[in-house]
Amino acid sequence: MPHTSSALVSLSDLHLTLKSQAGSVDILKGIDLEINAGDTVSVVGPSGAGKSSMMMLMAGLEAATSGRVTIDGKDLGAMDEDALARFRRDGIGIVFQDFHLIPTMTALENVAVSLEFARKPDALARARARLESVGLGHRLDHFPGQLSGGEQQRVALARAFAAEPKLLLADEPTGNLDSATGDIIIDLLFSLQKDHGTTLVLITHDPRLAKRCNRTVVLKDGLLSEQHSPTEKSENVSPASGTGPRVASANAKGHA
Ligand SMILES: Nc1ncnc2c1ncn2[C@@H]1O[C@H](COP(=O)(O)OP(=O)(O)OP(=O)(O)O)[C@@H](O)[C@H]1O
Ligand SMILES: [Mg+2]
Repeated sequence: MPHTSSALVSLSDLHLTLKSQAGSVDILKGIDLEINAGDTVSVVGPSGAGKSSMMMLMAGLEAATSGRVTIDGKDLGAMDEDALARFRRDGIGIVFQDFHLIPTMTALENVAVSLEFARKPDALARARARLESVGLGHRLDHFPGQLSGGEQQRVALARAFAAEPKLLLADEPTGNLDSATGDIIIDLLFSLQKDHGTTLVLITHDPRLAKRCNRTVVLKDGLLSEQHSPTEKSENVSPASGTGPRVASANAKGHA
């Protein structure tokens, strides 16, 4: 089937079943989602709902049981491991809750290495500029173990944005930080997102943070639904959501 969607991210009837000793678990049961370029989308939902798993599928770090993940017009299911690795390197930035920096490399090297992989010229100079832009110009030669949690996450942000990816995936980026440090990281994340026009998918348990995105989707019981803010006009709420107590009594029936 030809690819007709103009969305940057397209998930289509995505299923994920994971097998464990206790038996197999259906994590995702038919997820559909389209995200336009430049959009910011938060993903919320209970612990264990499969948010991180869904992100792994979007990054091509895990394969779907069935269904399709298309990013920037490319069907990830059709790529081999090498192609996926190249695709991630050039097109996707990822930020994790626990930073995922390389412990044996300095802050500068952590950022430069991703630029070198992406074959960008002047990797060191660019990495330095990126770190300066997140306020870490004075910590270039520190190892992750010599940095605070907030500083480590700033390095991770500098690294994630370094190669100017079209898509940034962030999985609870403030989950390991106190709220004041978390606020600094989030302000930085959104300012980088805005500067670069990056499409952002942000997994969070923090409703305050979720609201900073243009859209919020809820993952629950293996299915995804769009969350509409209470201030939004009621006609925008899909009939399937069933959240409103009001039933349009007079108009609902008698409509031929
Ligand atoms: N390798 C695995 N084998 C079997 N089940 C797994 C495996 N990895 C994760 N799971 C299960 O998949 C479900 C979804 O996990 P996932 O980490 O995606 O949830 P989550 O929504 O990100 O949760 P949290 O908000 O706590 O981070 C969980 O019930 C988890 O126990
Ligand atoms: Mg998770």
